[in-house]
Amino acid sequence: MTDTIRWGILGPGSIAHKFAKGLAVIDDAELAAIGSRSLERANTFADAYGADARYGSYEELANDKNVDVIYVATPHPFHREHTLLCLEAGKAVLCEKPISINAQTTKEMVVAAQEKKLFLMEAMWTRFLPTLEKARQWIADGRIGEVRLVKADFGFRVGWNPESRLLDPNLGGGSLLDVGVYTISLANMIFGSAPNQVTGAAHLGDTGVDEQAGMVLGYPGGGLAVLCSAVRTSTPQEAHIIGTEGSIHIPDFWHSTTASLMVANEVVDQIDAPFQGSGYEYEAMEVHRCLRAGELESPVMPLQESIEVMEAADRLRGQWGFALPMERGMR
Ligand SMILES: NC(=O)c1ccc[n+]([C@@H]2O[C@H](COP(=O)([O-])OP(=O)(O)OC[C@H]3O[C@@H](n4cnc5c(N)ncnc54)[C@H](OP(=O)(O)O)[C@@H]3O)[C@@H](O)[C@H]2O)c1
Repeated sequence: MTDTIRWGILGPGSIAHKFAKGLAVIDDAELAAIGSRSLERANTFADAYGADARYGSYEELANDKNVDVIYVATPHPFHREHTLLCLEAGKAVLCEKPISINAQTTKEMVVAAQEKKLFLMEAMWTRFLPTLEKARQWIADGRIGEVRLVKADFGFRVGWNPESRLLDPNLGGGSLLDVGVYTISLANMIFGSAPNQVTGAAHLGDTGVDEQAGMVLGYPGGGLAVLCSAVRTSTPQEAHIIGTEGSIHIPDFWHSTTASLMVANEVVDQIDAPFQGSGYEYEAMEVHRCLRAGELESPVMPLQESIEVMEAADRLRGQWGFALPMERGMR
């Protein structure tokens, strides 16, 4: 490992811009290379963020010897293929959320990383925010007693474009895989377990994807999560973690900069933590820590938990009769 950790970005689209802004505030991070399906797009992105190497194919990026870790930022149906490409070339990978489209493909990615003894992590960036770190600490310190209920929602209204990533099933469209996974991942993290009951209802819209969904997950010990996701309906995007002695309120939970600890309806503690960069720096800093420590996965976002989120999503989509085109014949 060099003094700086040299990053490559695979798929310089919308989220890659935010990630690059996060990397820019980390002293020991270097954005070294960009790989796109188009050299022109790679050049434009590389010029904007000062990356030296730019490639018109993902293969060339994966094989760049001056790159330590690759951030896979393509739409989720391609995460498996692109992650395997990078692992095959000996690169550590931070893969955007959802880590893949279902549990089966996620397990293939995990096995490949383990066989190659390479680092892999789902970019569930919310978990690394200071607010979520503080919430975990409040819970561990017993400040809200035993956690009984998690309520979380993540919905927004996208304009109607059936060919957009959020609505086109060929690009992995639908609210559950785009934003519902944040709520499930949060609930699984808080309860420290996969759910043993999974039920939900969804509205499948004109393109066949779930435009909105409501989910109830039950956990060993009786904990419950009541969650919803949407891509055609704006929701408050809040999380409430409710225990026997108090509760935690996290406004804008998936990109939160504040959280409050409440006891008897009074705020008794609070964290205000403005981002240093775009907010994506925290997950990248965890990747740095793991790479320097020789850890192949992060204890904050373990691979088994990424699999368990996908298993819950599979069960929900199974209930809704919603398979993506590339999954037909797979399950
Ligand atoms: N963490 C977060 O806050 C967050 C927010 C938004 C999205 N995401 C996740 O990040 C991933 C990408 O989302 P996005 O909104 O950035 O997507 P996007 O802008 O639509 O696509 C990202 C890039 O993927 C590449 N790509 C490769 N194959 C493609 C194909 N067949 N069709 C379209 N693009 C293709 C394209 O780059 P080139 O053609 O130039 O190679 C494209 O610019 C998704 O899995 C999404 O869930 C995460």
